[in-house]
Amino acid sequence: MEIFLPFDIVSFSEEETQDCGRSLSLLLDVGSVVALRGGLGAGKTCFTKGVAAGLGVSETVTSPTYTIISEYEGKWADGKKALLYHIDAYRLKDDDDFAALGAEEFLYGDGVAVIEWSERIPASIPKDAIFVDIEALENGGRKISGRRRLVDAAKL
Ligand SMILES: Nc1ncnc2c1ncn2[C@@H]1O[C@H](COP(=O)(O)OP(=O)(O)OP(=O)(O)O)[C@@H](O)[C@H]1O
Ligand SMILES: [Mg+2]
Repeated sequence: MEIFLPFDIVSFSEEETQDCGRSLSLLLDVGSVVALRGGLGAGKTCFTKGVAAGLGVSETVTSPTYTIISEYEGKWADGKKALLYHIDAYRLKDDDDFAALGAEEFLYGDGVAVIEWSERIPASIPKDAIFVDIEALENGGRKISGRRRLVDAAKL
């Protein structure tokens, strides 16, 4: 799948949702943050599996609902080690709760962060994050929308 930011696609299968995540991974670099939003069972973990595959993670990605943060190792296109932090904010109370877990390290460190339930920690999301909204449609499909906030680079 070829996607451009901003994008709006409709996925009719887990495979298509993963494929979208895999395509998005091509836009990522060290320090990138993907802020996922969407209700229970929307497909956020499924999308993250695709991002992980795109980053060369071979380990099976599972939902970090209870652990809150999972770390995976992959490879960038140039062969250098890539780190993926898969964060699930569902069980976090608020931004302070996330800060106490070491948010800085995950968001401004040496890896890529993909955050499920990012709407629960809005103040923690970096200004230049890529937002991906997943919405379940009545026909069973999923609308997946990707946006990057336009910011003044000087203010980052
Ligand atoms: N087009 C689709 N894309 C992704 N998942 C789909 C799609 N259609 C149906 N599904 C189903 O929706 C569910 C999505 O599960 P997933 O764990 O990825 O959601 P989630 O948003 O991470 O949920 P949670 O809020 O519990 O973390 C799966 O059971 C999957 O089979
Ligand atoms: Mg999930």
